[in-house]
Amino acid sequence: MTEVAAKDDARFIWPVEDTSRAPYWVYTDRELYALEQKHLFQGPVWNFLGLDIEIPNPGDYKTTFVGDAPIIMVRTMDGGVNALMNRCAHKGSLICYKPRGNVRELTCVYHNWTFDLEGKLTGVAFRKGVGGKGGVGPEFDSNDHNLVRLRVETYKGLVFGSFSQETPGFRDYIGDELIASIDRVFIKPLKVLGYHSQMLPNNWKLYAENNKDSYHASLLHVFHNTFGVVRPNMGGGIKLSDNGWHHLSYTERTPPNDDETGREKVRSLKEQYKLHDSSMMEHRLELGDLVTNSIQTIFPNLVVQQILNCLAVRQLIPRGVDSSELIWTVLGFEDDAPDMLELRLQANNLVGPAGFISMEDGCVGGFVQRAAKADPDAQTVMPMGGRGIEPSAGSRVTESAVRGFWKGWRECMKI
Ligand code: FES
Ligand SMILES: [Fe+2]
Repeated sequence: MTEVAAKDDARFIWPVEDTSRAPYWVYTDRELYALEQKHLFQGPVWNFLGLDIEIPNPGDYKTTFVGDAPIIMVRTMDGGVNALMNRCAHKGSLICYKPRGNVRELTCVYHNWTFDLEGKLTGVAFRKGVGGKGGVGPEFDSNDHNLVRLRVETYKGLVFGSFSQETPGFRDYIGDELIASIDRVFIKPLKVLGYHSQMLPNNWKLYAENNKDSYHASLLHVFHNTFGVVRPNMGGGIKLSDNGWHHLSYTERTPPNDDETGREKVRSLKEQYKLHDSSMMEHRLELGDLVTNSIQTIFPNLVVQQILNCLAVRQLIPRGVDSSELIWTVLGFEDDAPDMLELRLQANNLVGPAGFISMEDGCVGGFVQRAAKADPDAQTVMPMGGRGIEPSAGSRVTESAVRGFWKGWRECMKI
């Protein structure tokens, strides 16, 4: 990676003053991708790592990524959560190569160096050599060879890691208004119902933008419009953090459409289309309001989703300049009765790689990526709802949250 900061690089000059335009090189430039690792993912952000319920017992670990950097999220012996770089301090081998497991200490398979769950180097094989010969010299100090350790914060069971010492605490990072929308969803102890994962044929930022792009929801997703999950005339709006980096987009149900069970009736806007089984569209109000869909982004890599009764978090991982991975962790509450679990699993058909709604998001970023390649200096335009990053109370026909994403990206990258 070049040591030149992105801001000093004449190739990366933003074409306009605000973020109502973005050049295509943001999706296609390999050097910029490398700079993102340092300035953004290892910069002043909180990266989502996983859920604390995924590692309930001392020694439980899960492997994940912060940008390209492999990370071990581990439950310590005293019940805390650590995030350690999954890279041995000797010659850099991955230490944990399974998705998850349970360990008392971390042992590198290559030359058997061992580390405790705080990342401290505790053992060097043949440290004193064999038969008085070989081994390390007296100047070798174990304290200089611990694993890289990230700052960690857990909020409502969501675990975040940061390489930056300057980033404010998580609550200040996203602000009171968006903290409240996490509180709104995570009202009780959670249970993991399962996972989806998919490779996206596009730069990670195309999916990050897509989540903030409420303009496309009723247009790209024909299922939405046909069966009325999201319609442009529904109530709802967009909230943004003061700095524009994070957002919430939500829609609200129209009350007369309820029946006495608290479930919303499914309507088809096109009479010739009928669902043989409409149970995936049923919604039981459970969070104290009439919100049917809420999509919240936490910059740079997390989405918290409530679609009807389907709760999930989505973690976005870059996998090279033109590829990314999306991992969905589908959630319920620990005390869900069997009928609520059934509702959640039915609504889960709407999301994931083959979801009736989400499937289009899995390919539309690839459409942009393929078209962007030829002309990196051309630009996208984001004119909906003005040029700023104002919240929108009555309308979701705005690109303000997408402009907010680019504001955050530019501030991290200093471009
Ligand atoms: S690379 Fe880990 S012990 Fe050598
Ligand atoms: Fe979408």
